[in-house]
Amino acid sequence: MEPGWVRDQLPAQPPEHPEPHAAVLADLDRVIVPALTQWQHPGFFGYFPANTSGPSALADLVAAGLGVQGMLWSTSPAATELETHVLDWLAQLLGLPERFRGRGVIQDTASSATLCALLAARERAAAAGAALTVVASQEAHSSVDKAVAIAGLDPGAIVRVPCDARGRLDAAALDEVLAGLDGPVFLVATVGTTSTGAVDPLEAIGGAITGRDVWLHVDGAWAGTAAVCPELRWVGEGLGAADSYVTNPHKWLLTAIDCSALWIADPTWLQRALAITPEYLRDAASASGAVIDYRDWQVGLGRRFRALKLWFVLRMIGAQGLRAHVRRHVALGEDLGARVRAHPRLELVAPVELALVCLAHRDGDAATQRLLDAVNAAPDLLATHTRMGGRLVLRVAIGGVRTEQRHVDRLWEVLARAA
Ligand SMILES: Cc1ncc(COP(=O)(O)O)c(C=O)c1O
Repeated sequence: MEPGWVRDQLPAQPPEHPEPHAAVLADLDRVIVPALTQWQHPGFFGYFPANTSGPSALADLVAAGLGVQGMLWSTSPAATELETHVLDWLAQLLGLPERFRGRGVIQDTASSATLCALLAARERAAAAGAALTVVASQEAHSSVDKAVAIAGLDPGAIVRVPCDARGRLDAAALDEVLAGLDGPVFLVATVGTTSTGAVDPLEAIGGAITGRDVWLHVDGAWAGTAAVCPELRWVGEGLGAADSYVTNPHKWLLTAIDCSALWIADPTWLQRALAITPEYLRDAASASGAVIDYRDWQVGLGRRFRALKLWFVLRMIGAQGLRAHVRRHVALGEDLGARVRAHPRLELVAPVELALVCLAHRDGDAATQRLLDAVNAAPDLLATHTRMGGRLVLRVAIGGVRTEQRHVDRLWEVLARAA
């Protein structure tokens, strides 16, 4: 697809008169769908998955039809209360600490969630008259840098903690970094790094921050929802020390983008950072203090009814269905990992712990690039890349709603031939 192809198909002027429904749908098929990357295709192994599902689509349709705007509790009490409730359900399913109960909010993305956590931490630091230092590992997601820039801090001033060979934040190094810092800290730990799915050692990080003025924000955008499976609960071990935690049902949990779950143990700081109350937004319910006004928990004022899709998904798929979904991908990842391990010219660049397989050609970057090119030349496959320790890495993120063994077999066939 050449840049500009889509716009070239569209009239320069907006329509003056209503057009028939059929004409719009015909153009959807002619111009839009051919220019979409098929994220729901079972051969999509790029980035991280962005699941959708029937229940999620149905709920989005219902939400669009109801057309409510839940900025305040009073502007649609059910929108607010359902959101708090489904995030409590999700917290139970993931085995999250009790301190997050009743303290969840749905953000559009994990990036917004991390920004909100940072703004809350900055508010707490400001109340103590201190400036905040941001600390994160080399492998923390770029949304941390973006949040820092939006918050008006200097992204260049983020203090980077080294990682071990696996890409996990080194807790001993963190201890040294924190010992050398004065004043409050906003620390980001990652459960499932974007490059290789590494899980930072939360228990050890909890030890390193004990007795220090640290706001620990944990970014589990992709991997966090794996904890619906009891055998994968280890991804969240140590979350008891976290002040805030984000994970995206819109990645691997069958709920269409946008649905990013943020829990914040003490939301007072977030509210203090974001509550601006002109006269026209005042009402008795808000003044009573007995309700949540989610406008104070996010950047925007208006908000759509996102809780509905998580509710539909949790009810119509159920915990067992969610577990089966995650387990299928984890098993497919193990299978692909074993094949890579057994291949004489390929190697795993990171252990396959969840459903992300990171591999490289033993002959170096040019050979790995050829693998990636071969995969992406196939119309029914897509994979993406990263770098680890300067080395080019092919990432295979397994998580499609309809991805089965035969799709992984097909990917392997192309990889093995190109290797
Ligand atoms: C670890 C991690 N954090 C944050 C994000 C950003 O997620 P979002 O697109 O919801 O902002 C990603 C995206 O893949 C991620 O992998």
